[in-house]
Amino acid sequence: MLSGSNILLGITGSIAAYKAADLARRLMDEGAKVRVVMTEAACRFIPPYTLEAITGDAVHVDLFKDPYSHINLSAQSDLFIIAPATANTINKLACGLADNLLSNLWLTYDGPSLIAPAMNFRMYNNRTVQANIRNFKKSGIEIVGPAKGDLACGEEGEGRMSEVSEIVEAAISVLTLHDLAGQTILITAGPTQEPIDPVRYISNRSSGKMGYALAMAARRRGAEVILISGPSSLNPPHGMKFESVETSGDMEKAVFKYLEKADTVIMSAAVSDFRADVTAKNKLDKSDINLLKLKKTTDILKKLGTKKGKRFLVGFAAESGKNVSRAAAKLKEKKLDLMVLNDISQEGAGFDTDTNIVTLINKKGDVEDYPLMKKIDVAHIILDRIKITKGK
Ligand code: CTP
Repeated sequence: MLSGSNILLGITGSIAAYKAADLARRLMDEGAKVRVVMTEAACRFIPPYTLEAITGDAVHVDLFKDPYSHINLSAQSDLFIIAPATANTINKLACGLADNLLSNLWLTYDGPSLIAPAMNFRMYNNRTVQANIRNFKKSGIEIVGPAKGDLACGEEGEGRMSEVSEIVEAAISVLTLHDLAGQTILITAGPTQEPIDPVRYISNRSSGKMGYALAMAARRRGAEVILISGPSSLNPPHGMKFESVETSGDMEKAVFKYLEKADTVIMSAAVSDFRADVTAKNKLDKSDINLLKLKKTTDILKKLGTKKGKRFLVGFAAESGKNVSRAAAKLKEKKLDLMVLNDISQEGAGFDTDTNIVTLINKKGDVEDYPLMKKIDVAHIILDRIKITKGK
């Protein structure tokens, strides 16, 4: 997601500096070229050698080592991240002071930038620090965190540097064109679980990966995202409204709670088609199998079709075999604008994979086949198709 981008990573003197090594690694995993600049104080927390070993590049600390590094390094960068950023550095940068290589680079750099503050909560709540952070935000600088929690000093409060995954996600978003800004997209993901008794449930096979990829891709492209997820082992993605549900009934309630806010609804959840007629309070005995009666759950997508108004509605059809006519019939019946058909019998298009093979079908009956792709790339294609169709 960051391939071809040059990131300048500034590390300042906070205990969170050790996490910057992981951050450099994760940014490189996403394809970025990472150059590191450290303050003298940061070098007391983590040796530059560690960052040199990770990035395979010299770490820059001394302003006077190379007469032009304070100009050249910034000119070669597409994104300047300062993580962790101490109160001292934040305040210095806000005043335009330039007393070390990092602060000199800040003055010579004029591209997108991201700051991840890390400090004791009292320092973070200080009026000067708060005012400077507010001004940074106003001038378009992305501020990530800090998070609330246990601080290194033993106290608790707002001041922990945000998780590395959150900073990487924010970096990707900053460098992605925000072509979906102003839109609100409601996405469902994962399976639902319909309880039979306190131990057993009926469910569908689904990891949630396709829905989470859609949510992440939409967020990165600047959309407001509401993600409603059934039980999944995936971490809730950053930067969106996230609601966790269990049953199809819970999912239905959540979808209609947020429908008003959404311009687009993507039902990628594998909602169970059946539920137990009655949920037993106590664990059933094996011999009670004959008592088990199933009922159909509400078809949320179909109900959405009758209440969608001007919203763009996307459904998924997981079929054994590429049954385009069946998927097209479902699109018509449920009043969808777009149907994503995936043939689950094909290798790489299964439930717990990072890839998918899809066919997109629109209202006019146009059919587009796509080859095996990563789910995040499939997500972008679906979002592109929504954007193009809505724009017409
Ligand atoms: N879906 C839903 N509510 C349900 C069942 C499914 O909203 N109770 C949605 C899914 O989120 C998906 C689409 O319907 O977007 C496809 O469901 P699928 O099970 O493939 O199709 P059905 O129309 O339920 O038909 P069948 O199971 O007979 O194939």
